[in-house]
Amino acid sequence: MNARTRGAFIVFEGVDGSGKSTQVARLVARLEAGGLAVVVTREPHDCPAGRRIREMARSGEPVTAEQELAWFWEQRREHVRDVIAPALAAGRVVVCDRYYLSSVAYQGSRGLDPEKILRESEAEFPRPDLVLWLDVDVGAGLSRTQARGDPAEPVFEDRSRLEAVADIYRSLSLGELVRIDAAGDEDEVAAAIGQCVSERLGLVV
Ligand code: TYD
Repeated sequence: MNARTRGAFIVFEGVDGSGKSTQVARLVARLEAGGLAVVVTREPHDCPAGRRIREMARSGEPVTAEQELAWFWEQRREHVRDVIAPALAAGRVVVCDRYYLSSVAYQGSRGLDPEKILRESEAEFPRPDLVLWLDVDVGAGLSRTQARGDPAEPVFEDRSRLEAVADIYRSLSLGELVRIDAAGDEDEVAAAIGQCVSERLGLVV
């Protein structure tokens, strides 16, 4: 039996190609194997604002940093209202691929104030119990996205911009944020994540 009976909120963060999707899937499988009811979700959420973001990313259409942040904020409101909050209230474990620290890091990398985005996010949105930041070298991450043939998203995947994103993740000091060295092989990274989730949250994984 798990010690925890109320919902838990786990977020994955990291630059593109940091291995989040693989590790999200592995953690979810382990939690479910332990008998937990898990809701797995991601941002950008599938809603009108989220779809506008995806379109912008694919087309390379220039938008201001403020507009970008406004769309991410809007999709997050819907995501929290429709998915995250109800799942937590029902006692589920929510595992989310990207959340407000992505806005802090990515929109911060475009010159907006990361501290302000963080403060306002914490004031409005439920705070995660644990954020797993998968830290990889930006160049290695980009090679991974290219190797798997992801559709190019020039807006988000410019190398110098991703270096700035990584610098912001690195500068954050939050009790719920844990750095996971994601340079190693997939099994090692999964083991480090499992250990962290059981130590921090008391979940059996
Ligand atoms: P996606 O294709 O889902 O990338 P990934 O698989 O790396 O998560 O595209 C999401 C992109 O949007 C990603 O490059 C990061 C960016 N993003 C922001 O700029 N701000 C945000 O608040 C979020 C949630 C994502």
